[in-house]
Amino acid sequence: MSTLIKGGTVVTAGDTFAADVLVEGEQIVAIGRGLSGDTVIDADGAYVIPGGIDVHTHLDMPFGGTVSSDNFFTGHQAAAFGGTTMHIDFAIQPKGATLRETLELWHGRAAGKAAIDYGFHVAITDLPDSVLNEMQDCVGYGATSMKLFMAYKGVLQVDDSTLFRAMQQAAQHRLLIMVHAENGDAIDILVREAVAAGNLAPKYHALTRPPQLESEATNRAIRLAEVAGAPLYVVHVTNAEAMEAIRQSRARGYGGQIFGETCTQYLFFTKADLDRDGFEGAKWVCSPPFREASDHDQLWGAVADNALQVISTDHCPFWFAGGVDGRTPGKELGRNSFAQIPNGCPGIEERLMLLYTHGVRAGRISLNRWVELCCTNPAKLFGCYPRKGVVAPGADADLVVWDPEARRTLSAATQHQRTDYTLYEGWEVVGAPRTVLSRGRVLVNDGAWHGEAGAGQFIHRRPFGL
Ligand code: URP
Ligand code: ZN
Ligand code: ZN
Repeated sequence: MSTLIKGGTVVTAGDTFAADVLVEGEQIVAIGRGLSGDTVIDADGAYVIPGGIDVHTHLDMPFGGTVSSDNFFTGHQAAAFGGTTMHIDFAIQPKGATLRETLELWHGRAAGKAAIDYGFHVAITDLPDSVLNEMQDCVGYGATSMKLFMAYKGVLQVDDSTLFRAMQQAAQHRLLIMVHAENGDAIDILVREAVAAGNLAPKYHALTRPPQLESEATNRAIRLAEVAGAPLYVVHVTNAEAMEAIRQSRARGYGGQIFGETCTQYLFFTKADLDRDGFEGAKWVCSPPFREASDHDQLWGAVADNALQVISTDHCPFWFAGGVDGRTPGKELGRNSFAQIPNGCPGIEERLMLLYTHGVRAGRISLNRWVELCCTNPAKLFGCYPRKGVVAPGADADLVVWDPEARRTLSAATQHQRTDYTLYEGWEVVGAPRTVLSRGRVLVNDGAWHGEAGAGQFIHRRPFGL
């Protein structure tokens, strides 16, 4: 059985051209004019782009005294409705566990649920020699990137010697090190001081995690990676100073080795959002926190001129009013103190629509750069290109027929993310997916779900740069 996506404009990171796309089985087999297929999907007036890849998500993750509210089915549905057909989640190492055991735990979470393709980064929290030596086995496990947290003291944070040893090992085995770059020791002191002073409202989350503590840690991680010779990817960059540290390292000659992402939400919100009426600001509590409006322009500039290479979501949803009707506890855990609010925000569904509306249509990034940031660079950096991230013969038929004129109003009432709020309530977007395919199967068409739990596959990723 073949499927022809007919009459659209194909958009890749490098090109924009009118062509039909022929899919046989799970793959694209031809791109051209005058092709025929058994089933025809009309792409008239639409773009045909590679499925989005979100390399930073936390589905079904135990965190902050609860569990993130989307699992590997609901999160996948939400992703697909927004045009994302692959994501890479973080398998967090329980202290004392091997990396294999860690990955098995997370494979168990996805088993029977996955509706889109997925991969895992390993988040290392504990690095005895046995685990250090096991890092090389991650090539065989197909999980070739590792995150280390420089913050969340006493929970996930590692010290510099752990980080540096991991980097040395990664350099030898072409593993990509990812860092959550904030100075967790200093933050821990500021949080304790705020709590002792009775400063407990959500806004103190941002005030106890100032941008200097992100840029300091970013610069430290970069310098350690330069010395270790390890490839480094800085996740969720929020502000101009941290971004400049990445830009400068790349200018010093580490351009093939030092990379950074920002996340959709850091292009739109500020620390003032944490000071909304009552407890409302808790919805905006994530780490690192939101910064200043001036950072938005700098981040848009950085994603346009390649100082940053990827925009992901850090999708880590919690209920606002959890703990009832089968809902896991959520943001309300921190009603009495910002220090207890689970950190994280939803966003896997909205990324492509927001970046198309406020990036492409607003003239901040080109159509091709949008595809590069959201689809192609994630696949290239994380070892699954050209199977993923491109519209080309031989690639998986993970495709989105994108209607550039479709209008949607983002709302908790209509979203597919399993939570009771969206950061973008009432926002209008122009441009949305019409049809979404994963390896040739239609997942979403005209707003209706056709996907299936269990159809998503684990994607075994190659080492960095291979
Ligand atoms: O607040 C956030 N970002 N929660 C998820 C964990 C992380 O730091 O990425
Ligand atoms: Zn993080
Ligand atoms: Zn994260």
